[in-house]
Amino acid sequence: MSFTEEEQMRNEILEYFRKANGEYVSGQQISDALKVSRTAIWKHIKVLKDRGYIFESSTKKGYRLIYAPDLLTPLEVSNELKTDILGKRIVYMEITKSSNNEAKMIAAQGAENGTLVIAEEQTGGRGRLTRNFYSPFAKGIWMSLILRPKFLPMEASKCTLMAAVAVCKAVRQFGLTEAGIKWPNDVLYKGKKLVGILTEMSSSMEKIDYIVVGIGINTGIKENEFPEEVRGRATSFLNEGIEISRKELLAAVLFELEKNYIEVEKYGFANILEEWRKLTVTLGKNVQIISYGETYTGKAQDIDQDGCLLVKTDKGIKRVIVGDVSIRPAGNLK
Ligand code: BTN
Repeated sequence: MSFTEEEQMRNEILEYFRKANGEYVSGQQISDALKVSRTAIWKHIKVLKDRGYIFESSTKKGYRLIYAPDLLTPLEVSNELKTDILGKRIVYMEITKSSNNEAKMIAAQGAENGTLVIAEEQTGGRGRLTRNFYSPFAKGIWMSLILRPKFLPMEASKCTLMAAVAVCKAVRQFGLTEAGIKWPNDVLYKGKKLVGILTEMSSSMEKIDYIVVGIGINTGIKENEFPEEVRGRATSFLNEGIEISRKELLAAVLFELEKNYIEVEKYGFANILEEWRKLTVTLGKNVQIISYGETYTGKAQDIDQDGCLLVKTDKGIKRVIVGDVSIRPAGNLK
């Protein structure tokens, strides 16, 4: 795992408080144990307080930790993980423009298969079709995974479906049992967007160098906090009345995704596409497609073996490779 020196020190301070099990520890004790000045300890405790950790202080006895927020620090996350490949290395950032940007940068420098980049906040979170993705501090899981699969570059777009299947299953385990996938890879709950996935690749004609799978899951954003352009069309766990532990949900997503990844590497995408069909809310619906500047309507019939959407229109079956789909109420279309 890679930490900045400051983060590493804060992790060690937290670990010290955790071991004290709610008992008071003095600034001097921590300073002796971690071999840093009391002033430095005091500054780190201040940063931790700003991030939501609550300490009780006593002039005689020192500090005791009484509340730790649900942050996704490597220390917190690695305790939860049940995976062998995904998240073996974690790069953690409190704030960054986009975790996909970071992941692409370190992938280009050789970061290993399964490296996980987590951001508490993104200032320029990116979505498909050059959209913005709202990613406020600690109110969602904003993460990017670096994969170096053995399959061919032409197969890569199906990674996004593989990720959608994994996230949808994990989200359902945490209480949103009616969550479903909108083609290709949004996860919706009762028609509102809960998860977005952005997959980016670097490859030659015959070999994938790396794939970055960026996943954004809204956990703690309230209805009125969403930016105007998505308000009413996006939701979060909190908004649906469910309080979850972000680190537990993250661990469940990685567990499901690792299972899928191993399956795909061994046997190809056929089973994943089948699972996707079971979890989707798009198939069988009347849809409007906007793709390559063209807009048309029809009925979403199936996905083909490449993961493209097959839409039955007046002019026959259209195969949608990339595009924006809106699901329209029945009756709006012929
Ligand atoms: C979409 O809605 O079209 C996809 C959204 C993907 C958002 C995630 S959050 C983590 C990663 N970093 C980004 O900038 N985007 C992805």
